[in-house]
Amino acid sequence: MYKAPRGTADILPEEQPYWRLIEAHASALCEQYGYQRIDTPVFEESELFARSVGGATDVIEKETYSFADRSGDWMTLRPEGTAAVCRAYLEHGMRVLPQPVRLYSVRVPMFRYDRPQAGRQRQFHQINVEAIGNGDASLDAEIIELAWRFFAELGLHDLDLIINSIGDRDSRASYVEALLSYYHPHIESLCPDCKSRFKTNPLRLLDCKKQSCQPYLVDAPRSVDHLTDDSRKHWDDLTGYLTTLGLDYTVDHRLVRGLDYYSRTVFEIQPPVEGAQSTLGGGGRYDGLIEQLGGQPTPGVGFACGVERVILNLKRQGIEPPRAGELDAVVVYMGDPAKEAAVMLASKLRAAGVQTVLAPAGRSLKAQMRYASSLAAAHVLVLGEDELAQGTVTVKDMAGGEQRQVPLDDAPAAVSRSS
Ligand code: HAM
Repeated sequence: MYKAPRGTADILPEEQPYWRLIEAHASALCEQYGYQRIDTPVFEESELFARSVGGATDVIEKETYSFADRSGDWMTLRPEGTAAVCRAYLEHGMRVLPQPVRLYSVRVPMFRYDRPQAGRQRQFHQINVEAIGNGDASLDAEIIELAWRFFAELGLHDLDLIINSIGDRDSRASYVEALLSYYHPHIESLCPDCKSRFKTNPLRLLDCKKQSCQPYLVDAPRSVDHLTDDSRKHWDDLTGYLTTLGLDYTVDHRLVRGLDYYSRTVFEIQPPVEGAQSTLGGGGRYDGLIEQLGGQPTPGVGFACGVERVILNLKRQGIEPPRAGELDAVVVYMGDPAKEAAVMLASKLRAAGVQTVLAPAGRSLKAQMRYASSLAAAHVLVLGEDELAQGTVTVKDMAGGEQRQVPLDDAPAAVSRSS
C-alpha cells in the first residue's frame, strides 16, 4: 500500500479546524496592520534561493528539492518564502508603490529535505509576513509585535521572544574577523560541521548544538559589540520600541538564524519546550537582499512561522479550535420511486444554503437512519410512499426527537438554522 512520502502529512478533515482557525486569525491580524495577501509559485529558479538564502547554508547545501525541468533549467521547490516575495516585489515594480509594501501569505507549502521528527517535516506550511521598502526600527518592532500577538491571541502562553542584532555589512566584517580570531586556536577541537563553518559561514559557529562545541560558545565575541554607529542606533531604537510596546524580550547573543540574507535584527519566538525543533517562528531584517537579487538597495524585514508547529503547541497547551458546524440535514428515502424525489430534494436544500447529505443508496431505512446519526446531522428528512403520494416530507429533529410532515416546498425553511 502506498503511504505519503516520509516527512509529509495528509491534513485530514479532523485537523482542518486548527488550520481554519490559524489561517483566519493570521489573515485578520495581518490585514489589521495593513498587510495585503500575496501568493507566489511553489517552485522558483534554483539560482534565486542560492543567491538569497546562501549557498553555504544547510537549507541550500543539504535540504533543497531541486530538479531540472524538461528544458534543462534548474528549479527548486521553495524552502522559504522571503526570496520569492522579494523576487515578486522586483518583478512587478512594487518600488513605485507607497513604501513599505506590506505583504503576507498563509498556508504556504515549503520543502526542506531534513530528518523528520515531531515539528519537523519535509513538506510543511508557513505563514509569512514581509514589509519591504523601509529601514526604520519601528517597522522591525511592528513585525515583532504582529508575530507576538499572532501566537498570544491564539491562546499560546509561556513563550519567549529572543532577539539579537547581527549588524549591517560593515559591522559583520569586523565581527566575523573577531569570531575567526577567537575560534582559530580551537579549530582542531571543533566538530566537522564547525570546521567547515569556520571557512564558509563563520556566524553559524554560534548556532552549533553539538556538546563538544558548547564550551567555546561561552566566551565567543558578541555581534552587538561590533555594531557600526548606524546599526547601534537601529538596535537601541528597536529595543526602545519593544519596551514602549510592552513586549518582554531576551537578548541572545548566539542567535544568528540559518539564512544568509539577514542583517541587523534577528528574532525568534520559542515555546516552553526546549529543543532545536521547537522554534515557533522567526525572522529579521534583510536590508541587502533586494540589491543582491539585482534591485536598487531596498531594506526589508519579515517573519515566518510553521503552521504544523503552531498546531503542535496548541495541542500541547490544550487549546482547541472551535468545532466545525454540524451538518444540517440528511435525506433518507424508502424504495426506488422515492429515490428521484430524494435526489431532487437534496439538491434543492443545498441550493437554499442548507448543508445536506443524501443517504447512500441500497440500504434499509434503519441503516440510513444510523448513517444520519453517525454524521450528527441536525435533521433527517424522510421520503417514503406516503410522503411521495402527498407531496410532503417528514422532518425529524434529531436532538429533540419530534417529527412533522411538511410540504416539499417548505422543507428548506423547516430545517434552516434560523427556523
Ligand atoms: P525559518 O526560521 O527558516 O525562517 O522558518 C520559519 C519557521 O518555519 C520556523 O520557525 C518553523 O516554525 C518553521 N519551519 C522551518 N523548518 C521547518 C520544518 N522542516 N518543519 C516544520 N516547520 C518548519 C524563514 O523561513 C524565513 N523566510 C523567515 C523570514 C521571513 N525572515 C524574514 N522574513
